[in-house]
Amino acid sequence: MTRICAVSDIEPNSAAKFVVDGHPIAVVRIEDDFYAIGDTCSHADVSLSEGEVDPGDRHIECWKHGSRFSLETGEPDCLPATKPVPVFDVVVKDGEVFVE
Ligand code: FES
Repeated sequence: MTRICAVSDIEPNSAAKFVVDGHPIAVVRIEDDFYAIGDTCSHADVSLSEGEVDPGDRHIECWKHGSRFSLETGEPDCLPATKPVPVFDVVVKDGEVFVE
């Protein structure tokens, strides 16, 4: 388990990019829930954490071509991306965010 940041470092309904063991991940906060997915879009080399978070259905949208990725499964729900991004378990403890 790797410490990523403090809970207060990420505003509700936003995302931030962190590099863990050389892998870029997007950590997304929706209210007090945290998610971690691979930060690189599966369609091209674009940072998903720069995209818009949709708190309603818990997706993040790639700003480049608009594929929306589930924060729970990593699956895109529309083209052009067809492959999922990896999803990582997140633990929040004592005001700190950790990723498995
Ligand atoms: S780069 Fe993300 S959908 Fe094309």
